[in-house]
This record gives sequence, structure tokens and C-alpha cells, in this order.
Amino acid sequence: MADYAAWFECISGCGERYSLKEVVYVCRKCGALLQVAHDMGKLKKKSADEWKRLFAQRKHGTEWPYGSGVWSKKEWVCPEVEPENVVSMYEGESNLFWAERLGKSLGLNNLWIKLCGNSHTGSFKDLGMTVLVSVVKQMISEGKNIRAVACASTGDTSAALAAYCAAAGITPIVFLPKNKVSVEQLIQPIANGALVVSLKTDFDGCMEVVREITKDNEIYLANSMNSLRIEGQKTVAIEIVQQFDWQPPDVVIIPGGNLGNVSALGKGFLMMEELGLIKKRPIIIVAQAQNANPLYRAYKAGYENYRPMKAKKTIASAIQIGNPVSVQKAIAVLKEFNGIVEEASEAELVEASVAADKTGMYTCPHTGVALAALFKLVKRGVIKKDQSVVVVSTAHGLKFSEFKYKYHLNKLPFKSRYPNMPVETEAKLDVIRKVVDRQLKKRTAAQR
Ligand SMILES: Cc1ncc(COP(=O)(O)O)c(C=O)c1O
Ligand SMILES: [Zn+2]
Repeated sequence: MADYAAWFECISGCGERYSLKEVVYVCRKCGALLQVAHDMGKLKKKSADEWKRLFAQRKHGTEWPYGSGVWSKKEWVCPEVEPENVVSMYEGESNLFWAERLGKSLGLNNLWIKLCGNSHTGSFKDLGMTVLVSVVKQMISEGKNIRAVACASTGDTSAALAAYCAAAGITPIVFLPKNKVSVEQLIQPIANGALVVSLKTDFDGCMEVVREITKDNEIYLANSMNSLRIEGQKTVAIEIVQQFDWQPPDVVIIPGGNLGNVSALGKGFLMMEELGLIKKRPIIIVAQAQNANPLYRAYKAGYENYRPMKAKKTIASAIQIGNPVSVQKAIAVLKEFNGIVEEASEAELVEASVAADKTGMYTCPHTGVALAALFKLVKRGVIKKDQSVVVVSTAHGLKFSEFKYKYHLNKLPFKSRYPNMPVETEAKLDVIRKVVDRQLKKRTAAQR
């Protein structure tokens, strides 16, 4: 890998650069966020076809660490880490699910769901965390004193940080907003032995705390304002295109909270374009919960006067964020990709999630937000029926079963349209036969 090089650089263009192994998150000169830049000249020495062949050859392979969806693209992601310091759980390579029945119900023949939640800790956060924790392990191996790695989280970042740190033998500290993450998300870092700090505030409050705590250079910051995370997460764009035999889709829809993930998605597409692997860019659509929609509001005003907000409670709890750290990166991406921002109300996101589940998925509420945006944009004719559409599903629905349970028992604050309650009956065969028969007739009638 010595041939390849990457470094942090300031996104404002002020010219500042730092080594990836320096403890730095924002520009020391002007305060702007950093991004990882690669020596593109060196990467261009391989042709697009050579890169495609190399990625295909590594796919699902056993040569460490290239079988991982992230590390199969190591030269594009983080050439600075030695293979023995990579902390990987074989992340990435998630299924691109053809949503045949759901698509047909909308008149779309080409609807795909990128199931990023089918991963070690059940969300896309694994893609970025493998890179960040690997760089920490590399730094420690070179003698740097790092006592712990810390993050603020709405539940998925903390799960990923805790698991990767536990695998590497590094101490994680996670700051969680009390009573604002699911039970499954809370228990993940507890199980992995993290120091879990529960705070009576929201995510934005936790984020302020972690920014302060990590001013101590021996506690390393693991949120996506640390752009090492973005490098891993950008591989989702590359994977999607690879899964389509290197044809980019027309539209990609992604839920947005702190807005690191959409920044990563855009970066992945731009890198493929620069290296000649694709010729066309998709339209990128960010979907936000109406109760936490600062980007949507800014979009409506032509990105003038962006203002953070106090996020209200939403069932899509992982995107209950009012002051997104990566907003400027996200706006830049949206401008490059003919971007659209859409919002979803609580009822819309839940019904969209339920509709998808009825066609064989088990969607998290954030995927519900993205699907609700899809439904609305198809209805308004913004997304055309002949377009190929990929919805990025960001977490596994099993981490968020409570809202589904409440929906089917009709216990949410709004009326459930398609509840599917268990039928209770006596355990006697003749009674059961009658009940089953009656239920099947009801279903047949409903389908007419
Ligand atoms: C499940 C899930 N979906 C979507 C997001 C939003 O990603 P981002 O914060 O990078 O916009 C997050 C994390 O915040 C998440 O955990
Ligand atoms: Zn700067």
C-alpha cells in the first residue's frame, strides 16, 4: 500500500493538511470540518477496468482483510493502516434486495433496498467504525497514548463503536440521551463492556459533551465529524454500483440525521466518477423526519439561512437530531447530485415501514422515513416509474420492534391502517379450523 496516500484536508479550501494519524477533527486554522483526501494521481495509475477486476476478485475472499466490503476497497479508503491493525467484522457486502412487490404497488419495476442493517451490529455504522477503530489501533501500535475512544450516539454509532473496540481491546465511552434509544441499542454497548454514560439531554446535548471531553487528546472522538468514518461509509455507493454491474441507479434515497451518511454516499459516487468507473450520477434524495427536519427547511428556502432546530420526539429515534454536524458537507453533495430533501410525518413513516414489511422486509423506522419520501415523490411524479431507485435501509428492524408491536396492537397515537393482531382461540382442532377458515375468507375479501 505504500504506493497510495491519504491525508486530512480542510473542506473550506484553506489549504490545511494533517496526517490521518494525527488527533484532529476540525481545521486548526479556520475551524471548518476536515475530509480525507487521496492521492488521486496514484489511484489513476490503475484503469477503471483494473479496479473493477480487483474489487471483483476480492469479493467474499479470505485474504485478510480484503473480504470485507470496506477493506476490499482499502486503497480508496485508508491505505495508511497495516493489515495486522485492521479491526474488521467482515462488514459491508450487504444484500441489495429487489423490492419486487413493494415496487409494483407503486408502479415501479426497479426498486431496490440496500440492506445496510444486515451487518455485525445491525446498522451501516459498522462501515465507518471499522476504519476509525483500525486507525486508532494503528496509532496505538505506533506508540500514541489513547486511553479511550468516545462518541455521542442515538444508539447505532455507540453499538458499532463498542463492538469494534471490544474486538480490538480498546476502551469505548458512549454518551447516550437517556430514554431516547431502543432497549436493543442500549444493551449493545453494555454487553460489549463499554463505559455507558446516560445523560438527561438529547443527542445534540450529548454531542456537545463529547466535543468537550475529546479536547483531551488521549480520548479520541468517534463521531462522524471525524471524517475517517465517512471513508468507510462511502463504500456503500461503490457496493451499490458494483451490485448493478457498474451501472449507477437513477435515484438513491437515504434517511438523514447528523448528515454524515449522505456526505459519504456522495463522496463514493464522486470518487468512482473521477476514477472513470461511472459516467453518470444518480439523483440523491435525503429523507428527514418532520420532527427533526433542519435540512428540509433549509432546502425549501434554497439552502439560504440554514438554522439548527430543537428536534422533537420521533419514532425514527436515530435521526432525532436538530443540529447536524455534517450539514455543510451534505448541502455540497445535494448541490452536486441534483439533490432533493423530503420529510415524513410520524404516521407516514410508520405506514411506509409497515407496507414494506408486508412484502417481506423488516424495516427500521429510518428506512420508513426514506420509503415515505419515496411514496410521496412517486405520487407527485418527481420520481418517474421507469427510473431505477435504491433506498438505503440504514438499520435492522429488529433493533426497533417496539413501534411495530404498538402499531399492530393499535397503540400508537394515530390509528393503524393495517394492524395484524394475533388471533386468540381455544386449542381445540375443530374450533381452530373454523377460525382459520374465517380468517382466510376475510383476507381473500380484503384483497378484492
Ligand atoms: C439507523 C440510522 N439511520 C440513519 C441515520 C442517519 O445517518 P446520519 O446521522 O449520518 O445522517 C442514523 C444515525 O444517525 C441511524 O442510526
Ligand atoms: Zn481550514
